[in-house]
Amino acid sequence: MTSSRTQKHLDFDILIIGSGAAGLTLALKTADFARVGVLSKGDLNQGATFYAQGGIAAVLDETDSIDYHVADTLSAGVGLCHRDMVEHIVAESAESVRWLVEQGVPFTTKENFEEGLDKGQKKIAAELSSLHLTQEGGHSHRRIIHATDATGKAVFETLQKRAQDHPNIELLADCTAVDLVTQNQNTEPGSVCVGAYVLNLESGSVDLIKSKFVALATGGASKAYLYTTNPDGASGDGIAMAWRAGCRVANMEFNQFHPTCLFHPHAKSFLITEALRGEGATLELPDGSRFMPEFDSREELAPRDIVARAIDHEMKRLGCDCVYLNISHKSADFLRESFPTIYSRCLEFGIDITRDRIPVVPAAHYTCGGIMVNKDGATDIENLYAIGETSFTGLHGANRMASNSLLECFVVASGAAKDIETKLASTDHGLNIADWDESRVTTPEDEVLVSHNWDELRRCMWDFVGIVRNDERLQRAERRIRILRDEVQDYYTKNRVTKDMLELRNLVLVSELIIACAIQRKESRGLHFTLDYPQLDPDPVDTVLTPATFE
Ligand code: FAD
Ligand code: SIN
Repeated sequence: MTSSRTQKHLDFDILIIGSGAAGLTLALKTADFARVGVLSKGDLNQGATFYAQGGIAAVLDETDSIDYHVADTLSAGVGLCHRDMVEHIVAESAESVRWLVEQGVPFTTKENFEEGLDKGQKKIAAELSSLHLTQEGGHSHRRIIHATDATGKAVFETLQKRAQDHPNIELLADCTAVDLVTQNQNTEPGSVCVGAYVLNLESGSVDLIKSKFVALATGGASKAYLYTTNPDGASGDGIAMAWRAGCRVANMEFNQFHPTCLFHPHAKSFLITEALRGEGATLELPDGSRFMPEFDSREELAPRDIVARAIDHEMKRLGCDCVYLNISHKSADFLRESFPTIYSRCLEFGIDITRDRIPVVPAAHYTCGGIMVNKDGATDIENLYAIGETSFTGLHGANRMASNSLLECFVVASGAAKDIETKLASTDHGLNIADWDESRVTTPEDEVLVSHNWDELRRCMWDFVGIVRNDERLQRAERRIRILRDEVQDYYTKNRVTKDMLELRNLVLVSELIIACAIQRKESRGLHFTLDYPQLDPDPVDTVLTPATFE
């Protein structure tokens, strides 16, 4: 017996789960030859993309080169980046920017910080050389293109508008994918992805969406931590769904903490972009003294793992709640024009960045590990792709360099589009797929388990699996998370699904994977720093987890 709620059946050539930079790029690059559905579990703009500030790393300046960008990425990744992937993505950076300009993204130009490109994007080559480039940590050159300090919003709004206008793209908000549907079609060993079960938040039904190809573009999992720069939906759903379907994941221990999140009791998750340090902001202790020169010769522009750890060290040493970022030596006009979002947001909290220091703390920001994919986003499961932050391509190694992630979204989504195009004509829909079965569940009456466990999980991860780790804390976290996992699984099997419950179920699983990877890595490298193994392993390898052998 199935649900009494009316279930819908939809089908597409390509079902893209996620409407951020990765998902929208794939949609736009496939819609001329395929029928595409794009899901978002909330409003379409609820991914991390919309909030991206600093920009997109790309080799555009004549004093810069692909070799320099590759070398900087490898250095930030501390020996674990996959060189072939780094070279591929960096080599495609200028083409990605060209495509974005062609779509109409209003990037900031050198000539005027106020005006974006708005003249029909006619002379793209000339325009590329006229884009203003800013600087961020780990980059040896100015190579960050941006739209003032709200790059993600500019990219998202432009791509969303393009997608809305395309007749072959259906954008479906308020639809939460629950799980992937796979079949063993007996043609090849292994299974094939044929669609997904999706909770429609409006009707409450779980619908089957069939699709010849499915792409996970669901973003990261930083919501596993109590303090994060990420929006609420960053619950690692794609990683959890892919894992349950049988995909390997890798390097989940490398959670990036951004050094500078605004510290204010009423400011929820507000990032202070690294580009501020790129333009000369200094980090200061409460007494006004600088500390970064003692930690790294690159000072405030060292890679993020180093800056976040230095801040954590100083906060613990002094017992202070935050450190301060100071850019007040720059002219007020420059700051208001270059960083309008940060200027006005801080002003709402009584902080005038043209005069005052900004209180900041590190917060969970980016998931470097994820679903293992090849350079075109193809996963272990046939016809299933993973693109953007949910994936693990090997680009970031042990620490992502600033502004390389949006770039990865565009390049890998383009590769996936080309790969799918070559296979579409010879791919059929799955057959005889069962509807979602709700016959053994009831409507949840007591949702406190979800909210309580959500809080407990995120505090546990923050306290025991944070910037500085050790074996004892990791094992404690492992025990706690397993208890939560069993409780959540029991709740899931007995109750009708809700969005909150699904996110908690995914976050618990992803946290378990993070801890398992962290326990396996017996060294300190990049974002994974453990007091029990402070040295670098001379022969480092990726931490790869396989569902079939995971205990
Ligand atoms: P997202 O943009 O996160 O989109 C995820 C999508 O998946 C959303 O539409 C969401 O609704 C959907 N989704 C998730 N789960 C489900 C589900 N179960 N069912 C249906 N839909 C689902 N990177 C840079 O390179 N440069 C920057 O300047 C920069 N600044 C940043 C600033 C902030 C504050 C943050 C948080 C991140 C920043 N990053 C930056 C990182 C970068 O923004 C992200 O890595 C990138 O935007 C991820 O894009 P995405 O398409 O993979 O996922
Ligand atoms: C920032 O603007 O500091 C964020 C950039 C990034 O995460 O790549």
